[in-house]
Amino acid sequence: MSQHPLAQHLAQVPDFPKPGILFSDISPLLKSHFTETIDAMSGLFSAEEWDNIDCLAGIESRGFIFAAALAYKHNKGFIKVRKPGKLPNVHASIEYGLEYGSDKLEMQKGDGSRVVLLDDLIATGGSMGAAAELCEQVGYKVTGMACLIDLKALNSFVYKDMTVRSVIQFHD
Ligand code: PRP
Ligand code: MG
Repeated sequence: MSQHPLAQHLAQVPDFPKPGILFSDISPLLKSHFTETIDAMSGLFSAEEWDNIDCLAGIESRGFIFAAALAYKHNKGFIKVRKPGKLPNVHASIEYGLEYGSDKLEMQKGDGSRVVLLDDLIATGGSMGAAAELCEQVGYKVTGMACLIDLKALNSFVYKDMTVRSVIQFHD
């Protein structure tokens, strides 16, 4: 399978943040091809699908970049899925397991809006899965999930029969 041309602008950094981990750094891609990157993510959903989306939810922090830009491009609302202790009027929080320890996400109350969740990257799917669960808990309807890079495209993460759409896929 041929790789999306934007993939060549990622920097693959060995042993970051820990020995043995190959880190896909989106920094050079965002610097040189931000518009093309947002347009490619926009193309993950059809015009008809965009018509049926009310808001884009970004997972702190890298997810904010994509959700905010796509919300502007498609004239949608922007919702934050935040790390703990940052948000006032938290309606619900969710804790999810990491390889070592756990992490937590928080959200304010929802209003039934149809939401697409955005992040830069899927590794285990833990963040996306927890964010999707939390969106539903606070009162949004999750209608889609998308990211720039799927690190496990052959074993991709699924939430309630919904797969995560992605521009760049790596297979480990
Ligand atoms: C990274 C990345 C995704 C998540 C992917 O975020 O941006 O959100 O991990 O991993 P997963 O699929 O195993 O959950 P991180 O929490 O490291 O921080 P950042 O976005 O604030 O940089
Ligand atoms: Mg993140």
